[in-house]
Amino acid sequence: MEKKWRTAISWHFHGESYVRGYNLRELIGNLTFTEAIYLVLKGELPTERERKMMDAILVTMIEHSIAPPSVIAARAVISGGNPIHVGVGAGVLAFGRAHGGALEDAMRLLQENIEKRADVIVSSYLSEGKRIPGFGHRYYKEKDPRAERIFEISKELGFFGKYCELVKEIEREIERKKGKRLVVNVDGAVAAVASELGFDWRLGEGLWIVGRIPGLVAHTYEEYTMEKPFSKRLNEEEEVEYLGKKPRELPGYFKRRR
Ligand SMILES: CC(C)(COP(=O)(O)OP(=O)(O)OC[C@H]1O[C@@H](n2cnc3c(N)ncnc32)[C@H](O)[C@@H]1OP(=O)(O)O)[C@@H](O)C(=O)NCCC(=O)NCCS
Repeated sequence: MEKKWRTAISWHFHGESYVRGYNLRELIGNLTFTEAIYLVLKGELPTERERKMMDAILVTMIEHSIAPPSVIAARAVISGGNPIHVGVGAGVLAFGRAHGGALEDAMRLLQENIEKRADVIVSSYLSEGKRIPGFGHRYYKEKDPRAERIFEISKELGFFGKYCELVKEIEREIERKKGKRLVVNVDGAVAAVASELGFDWRLGEGLWIVGRIPGLVAHTYEEYTMEKPFSKRLNEEEEVEYLGKKPRELPGYFKRRR
């Protein structure tokens, strides 16, 4: 009879835990954390080259200062008097299409269109007025240094394949069509390399979460230990523009009701 819950990730045999078929006791002390992440996500152990590439991906995503929505959400929730797991949870909930989501969207774009020419892909996005995930950056207008580093490492390790070629060709094609450079950003570069490693695009958000959680934990801990609860860091007078009504009289009818 088919059972109601199914899993292929880990199991217990003879009172011991096995992850993807390997005895967990044997993995402890023999695998790096990155190798264990690769094993649990992909089902197989990485080669040395795959482990190095995966390390580069995870390090790229680990932290990006205090301004991203996830960090503001996480620290605000800690400031409200909540424990770390609630703050980290709030941070994860702030991830979305505009924050972290571009990685999965770019992986999908590359994997679903790998047989198509870059000019066809770019035309179809631009004609519909859609933004192409993995391209453009608020500050980096010529090169995203993080993306460049990812490509450099992918070349050194032999992972600069068809997805990396396509992402670079799309970048050139955008410039040709728009007459303006929109750089391959860090999400575009990681999307290409994660695709080279064989990660399914539906794991894109998962990869992002795995990469960014350590940064979120650090921020929640810092907020918890360094700041007072309900710490007031917003100067309303200077930083907030009030767009509502000026003070006004409550109509007499409402006063009578009291
Ligand atoms: C990252 C991003 C939000 C920066 O936006 P921005 O600061 O408004 O970008 P810019 O000021 O450089 O460019 C604005 C112009 O480029 C266009 N543009 C920017 N990114 C684009 C993209 N990825 N695809 C198509 N057009 C894009 C805008 O539509 C706008 O066009 P216009 O001048 O004809 O009106 C934007 O590039 C984007 O949405 N990229 C896709 C999502 C993504 O990869 N996010 C991860 C960022 S690390």
